[in-house]
Amino acid sequence: MTPRTARLLLVLGAFIAGLALFSAVIFIVTGRSPAPIAMQSAIGGPFRLVDHNNRPITDQDVKGKPQLVFFGFTHCPDVCPTALFEVSEILRALGPDGDRLGAMFVTVDPERDTPAKLKDYLSSFDPRLIGATGDADAIRAMERAYRVYAKKVPLDGGGYTMDHTAIVYLMDKEGRFVAPFNIKRRPEAAAADLRRYL
Ligand code: NI
Repeated sequence: MTPRTARLLLVLGAFIAGLALFSAVIFIVTGRSPAPIAMQSAIGGPFRLVDHNNRPITDQDVKGKPQLVFFGFTHCPDVCPTALFEVSEILRALGPDGDRLGAMFVTVDPERDTPAKLKDYLSSFDPRLIGATGDADAIRAMERAYRVYAKKVPLDGGGYTMDHTAIVYLMDKEGRFVAPFNIKRRPEAAAADLRRYL
């Protein structure tokens, strides 16, 4: 396995361990297994960020539409562009129905990903995608709310890359977490799945 694969597995492992730990804490506190709703409310919640047009965007602004929320950064060599491409394909497969879905790419690298940088980067993908950034505190709060792991990793030649959770979160119209959403399949199949939430 390549170092990159190993890192991604580590990131996924950390996420799953986090969920397991959370469930264990709930169990200890309440003495019973967490109801699905408790898990759902554990992911997501209020946020206050800035979109790629440099306008404020909050959880209230995206309510009323189901959302695909995912995290990444514009310097990402492979995983993020692939995810953005796949989500764009799903929006294309949805056609006009895609207007009733939100798709938000949240940067884990606010230091470099300014609104202008996000706007430029997203111009290669479906125009309905929303890029979100913010100050370091706002992004950290967003990562915490979605149980996202993100860490700066220095590069040999200088600069840095980011390790980060590469899960796509499906949120319902009320902003509640539904499930991780599988984008690694035919866009038509993913679109059919999403239509149930529109
Ligand atoms: Ni990435």
